Amino acid sequence: MIDVIKLTKRYGELTVLDEITEHISAGEKVVIVGPSGGGKSTFLRCLNCMEEPTAGEVIFDGKLVSYIDPYLHDDLIAVSATCKKLMAQGLKKEDAIEKIKAEKLLRKNEGGEFKTAHKHLEKEICIDLNVARRDIGMVFQHFNLFNNLTVMENLTLAPVHLKIKTKEEAEAKATELLHRIGLYDKKDVYPSTLSGGQKQRIAIIRALAMDPKVILFDEPTSALDPEMVGEVLELIKQLANEGMTMVIVTHEMGFAREVATRMLFVAGGKIQESAPPAEFFDHPKHPRLQEFLSKVIKN
Ligand SMILES: Nc1ncnc2c1ncn2[C@@H]1O[C@H](COP(=O)(O)OP(=O)(O)OP(=O)(O)O)[C@@H](O)[C@H]1O
Ligand SMILES: [Mg+2]
Repeated sequence: MIDVIKLTKRYGELTVLDEITEHISAGEKVVIVGPSGGGKSTFLRCLNCMEEPTAGEVIFDGKLVSYIDPYLHDDLIAVSATCKKLMAQGLKKEDAIEKIKAEKLLRKNEGGEFKTAHKHLEKEICIDLNVARRDIGMVFQHFNLFNNLTVMENLTLAPVHLKIKTKEEAEAKATELLHRIGLYDKKDVYPSTLSGGQKQRIAIIRALAMDPKVILFDEPTSALDPEMVGEVLELIKQLANEGMTMVIVTHEMGFAREVATRMLFVAGGKIQESAPPAEFFDHPKHPRLQEFLSKVIKN
């Protein structure tokens, strides 16, 4: 479902992700742990197009979803559409690309900008600019709800804006999801009146409202008071049991052991260990993982 190929991210001199290659299959629940600053959040943000990789690619369901400069979106769509038109007239893809270049069919796209678009075409990877926003849900540590919108508006904004659902369909789905988590009576309130646990559960169903194929969670319980952690983990567990594909960064080791189909240890910009939870926790191989586990698992 997700193919990460030699994904590299640098901030100046600092290499945060160092040629990470990883495959995540449909239905997997991948839990990522690792030291602070190890690149876990950066990895999730690259999966979700919120960050531009320095090098490498993320392929989701056969489509390239690596960050694309928003200023190039129109150009990419134009190149892609022109290419498809020529192919419909019987040209092979390579010939269509050559014709676009030779006859300068897209004047605006000459030079550097055209090269970017061209790269995507040559790779025969379908360009779908909304794929990440539609199919990959994200849940953040600090909820990131829109505080100036009601709960119902938070839940319906993206599906309606991206034309995935009509307003009526989006409201019907939001209503169903609110009933599911027992918060239907909160539909018209603003997020500031909710507890942390309620906010996070709303954030989770906001991701679900898009009918995503995978949900990424970045420390979903780290900002919560201890008594609210359980209700959020319970909801995530339910989704896991229903078959949702998930990538979860968390420090909740008991939860990880229970829910994960696979554990990843990310440190120093690399995936240092990848193993099923029993093996990962009981027989860690990498010395840094052994040290990490001895620090985080107290008893
Ligand atoms: N926009 C940025 N500009 C410069 N450096 C950044 C930026 N974002 C992250 N970094 C650096 O990249 C490294 C990895 O950060 P990241 O947030 O991915 O780590 P993390 O594993 O999620 O850590 P934590 O467990 O504390 O959340 C850190 O050293 C961080 O300071
Ligand atoms: Mg982080």
